[in-house]
Amino acid sequence: MKISLIGCGYVGLVTGSCLAELGNKVICVDNDSKKIARIKQGKIPIYEPGLEELILNNVKKKRLRFTSSIQEGVKYSEIIFIAVGTPPLENGEADLTGIENVARHIALNLSGYRLIVEKSTVPVETGEWVKKTISTYNKHKAEFDVASNPEFLREGSAIEDFMHPDRIVIGVESKRARDLLVNLYKPLNAPLVITNIRSAELIKHASNAFLATKISFINAIAYICDKVGADVEEVARGMGLDKRIGQSNLSAGVGYGGSCFPKDLDAFIAISERIGYNFDLLKAVRNINEEQKHFILKKVRDFLWVVKDKTIAVLGLSFKPDTDDIRNAPSIDIIKELLHEGVKIKAYDPQAMNKAKEVLDKAAFCKDPYEACKGADCLLVITEWNEFKELDFKKVKHLLKRPLIIDGRNIYEPKSMKEKGFTYVGIGRGRH
Ligand code: UDX
Repeated sequence: MKISLIGCGYVGLVTGSCLAELGNKVICVDNDSKKIARIKQGKIPIYEPGLEELILNNVKKKRLRFTSSIQEGVKYSEIIFIAVGTPPLENGEADLTGIENVARHIALNLSGYRLIVEKSTVPVETGEWVKKTISTYNKHKAEFDVASNPEFLREGSAIEDFMHPDRIVIGVESKRARDLLVNLYKPLNAPLVITNIRSAELIKHASNAFLATKISFINAIAYICDKVGADVEEVARGMGLDKRIGQSNLSAGVGYGGSCFPKDLDAFIAISERIGYNFDLLKAVRNINEEQKHFILKKVRDFLWVVKDKTIAVLGLSFKPDTDDIRNAPSIDIIKELLHEGVKIKAYDPQAMNKAKEVLDKAAFCKDPYEACKGADCLLVITEWNEFKELDFKKVKHLLKRPLIIDGRNIYEPKSMKEKGFTYVGIGRGRH
């Protein structure tokens, strides 16, 4: 099939290159011509495992190309995915300027039937607006359909998630649109959930809100575990083996971040408010998530007593492992607060340091975990990169001024750390 992806951000690039990999002819469009020029030179703007190879390989096989002309994209393809950003407005609602703009430009260039698919996370009813906008600017009265096909990709495993989805949600209003999308996704052999457009839009918001709720729930349990001397890792395992609960998203830690959960939750709370529902449950989820950062800062203060002029080695800056993304990363708020209190920060992250340098000018950035630990009063783990799990702890102990590990992601075993001679502090791992 001939497909175009409008918006070469995270979702657009991953979806476009994966659809090309499945054998489709794909054009990725972005109005940032500098970005397109860089991609054409093989410089991929985001770090995602496997993405660069996938893009280069499909460009070579002539299944994937890039352009800054939306006209070219619209003319070329039968299915047009809108994958532009929907950044948050001050009141938390999603800014739909990008979507409206793209819908208008699609309409102005429509000459024959096209299926226009919302891929970006959007409030329920956006499909309706896209349809109205296209109808209004559809000069040649070309036939079209609108559909919703939300993405559930996780950064760090986006390609795997695309190729092996738990389900594919398709919100459609015509048989033609339904057949096109069902055919497109046939090679993935995944369960299809076919609904109307509004339900599809809501599935995305409801899923992300529920996943965030699980994380805040376990973080609240972690707080209680610390107070009563239980271990949240054991509690989560005991809960998660119940199939009705499931193991996923029950890892306690410094809280969720990233470009989706915080933004989608704000948007969902704002949408609910607009239609007259006060979504208190989600407000609590959001508050607990904010509290997690204070929870870990309190642990730092409890152990270092006076933090001013102390040095802390911070391992992990990205909002989660296997990405260089620091959007809404808990690390940034935590480090900013520590710097504000007069702490010297020596940070290390395998991928996110360049991005972090732009927002943390007072922190020092190190070439590896050991350089970060040298002369530090405490080792603070904020992101659970695999390489932090297997450190040379003899060396770490020798390099630290005092053998204190505060583990914001529970990547170490308390017993083994104690045996190695560390004071170990996790999240919800019992009384200290
Ligand atoms: C999420 C959704 O999973 C995905 O379906 C959607 O399309 C986009 O948003 P992503 O933001 O890439 O994906 O990451 P995810 O792996 O879901 O993690 C989000 C945040 O939650 C991270 O900061 C992570 O560290 C945190 N998290 C996750 C926890 O703190 N505990 C957990 O148990 C799971």
